[in-house]
Amino acid sequence: MPSYRIAPSILSADFARLGEEVRNVVAAGADIIHFDVMDNHYVPNLTVGPLVCQAIRPHVEVPIDVHLMVKPVDRIIPDFAKAGANIITFHPEASEHIDRSLQLIRDHGCKAGLVFNPATPLHYLEHVMDKLDIILLMSVNPGFGGQSFIPHTLKKIAAVRRLIDDSGRDIMLEVDGGIKIENIAEAARAGADTFVAGSAIFGKPDYKAVIDAMRKELAA
Ligand code: DX5
Ligand code: ZN
Repeated sequence: MPSYRIAPSILSADFARLGEEVRNVVAAGADIIHFDVMDNHYVPNLTVGPLVCQAIRPHVEVPIDVHLMVKPVDRIIPDFAKAGANIITFHPEASEHIDRSLQLIRDHGCKAGLVFNPATPLHYLEHVMDKLDIILLMSVNPGFGGQSFIPHTLKKIAAVRRLIDDSGRDIMLEVDGGIKIENIAEAARAGADTFVAGSAIFGKPDYKAVIDAMRKELAA
C-alpha cells in the first residue's frame, strides 16, 4: 500500500485561533499543513502571507505546504522559505519562467512543485520533471474552500500518476479541492497519495474523527 498523507488546509480554520487550530489538527493526525496563499489577482480572493506562515511555524513540526495562488511568483518565494515553508508550489501559468521559479524554491531549501487547475494542460511538465518534488492537481477551480470535487479531474490524476511512474522519480501527487471522507478513496485509486482537505476537516468539531475516517477509507 502506498503511504498516504492528509494535508488539512487552514483556509477553513478559525483564523482568530490559528496556532491552536494547527496544533489541534496535527494532534488529530494531520501529516502536513496546507497553506493557501491568494492574492486577489491570480485568484479572486485574498488570504495570508509569509508573516502568518512564520507565526504558525513554532506551533507544528510537520511540513508546511505553501500553495501559491499568486502572480508573479518569484518575489515572494524567498520570504516563504524564510518563514519556515517546507514545500512551495505555484501555478505554471502564473510564472514567466517556470524552470527559474522551481530552481529558486530548491535553492532556498524547499521542495518544489507545480499546480494544475482543472483545465490547465499537463504539457508544462514536459521539461521540468527532474526539478519536481510534488505535483498538485486542483479538483476545483482555485480561490475558495468548500467547493465540490470536479469528477473529470480523476482522469487527470491517473494521467499524472502514469507520468510520475514513467519518470521513475519520487514525486508526491497531491489533490486539492472538495476532498471528503466519501471521495478520498476514489482519488487514491486514481493515483493521488496526498490529500488536501479544508472544509471537510475544519468544518467538523472532531478533526480526529474525520482524519481517522479518511484513513479507514484509504486502507479499505
Ligand atoms: C482552493 C484551495 C484549497 C481549499 C480546499 O483554492 O487551494 O486548498 O482550501 O478546500 P476544500 O477542501 O474545502 O475544498
Ligand atoms: Zn490549496
